[in-house]
Amino acid sequence: MNIKESGIIKRIAGKVKEHFQGEGSGHDWWHVYRVWRLSRQLAEGTGADLFVVELAALMHDMADHKLTIPEEGEKQISAMLEKEEVAEGTAGEVLKICRNVSFKGADVDASKLSYEGQIVQDADRLDAIGAMGIARAFAFGGSRHRPIYDPAIAPERHTSFADYKKSTAPAINHFYEKLLLLKDRMNTGAAKRMAEQRHRFMETFLEQFFREWEGER
Ligand code: ADP
Ligand code: NI
Repeated sequence: MNIKESGIIKRIAGKVKEHFQGEGSGHDWWHVYRVWRLSRQLAEGTGADLFVVELAALMHDMADHKLTIPEEGEKQISAMLEKEEVAEGTAGEVLKICRNVSFKGADVDASKLSYEGQIVQDADRLDAIGAMGIARAFAFGGSRHRPIYDPAIAPERHTSFADYKKSTAPAINHFYEKLLLLKDRMNTGAAKRMAEQRHRFMETFLEQFFREWEGER
């Protein structure tokens, strides 16, 4: 990345930080920061376009269906890139990643992502599992007034994005509907290796959770 591009990244990071100020569903600036760091780590030495990776990592949640109306978010992303005079081709690539990075249900076909997009998606997914993922799942559930767990409501396998989006299930169900599936859906080898350890940590957490549920230990 050249000096001009580094300057753009710095200014956009500042704006994104402001944008996600006060966010309480686990999609706050520090989620973006971690995804940004992880993306850089995964991109290192791979030949991926770092400028595209960093821009997409920073803006990946701005058009997320859970947080905003996607079309509105996309307009904001475009406006920010235009203001920084980012080349149209690059802006298009970044927008495409932001549009397609998000998980849409266990049995929903994922759109084809560029290599840069696959990196950002892996980073985003790594931050949805492990200790960070556990913290975020309950933060998200709480932000939507969902219970932690309800034994009467069984997890589902979603076959359409519409059903996945509609779900109001307890936070624990989300582990079975998405989080435990992510390890096998990583795009890059480096992310697959990192996901293994984070996955095991979630399994340990769930084992103890269910032991405590029935009052043992
Ligand atoms: P994605 O767009 O792929 O879902 P995000 O960056 O938006 O990725 O992160 C999703 C985060 O929100 C994860 O940490 C996930 O646990 C949380 N989340 C999303 N849906 C739910 C849900 N129904 N219950 C609990 N947590 C959820
Ligand atoms: Ni995210």
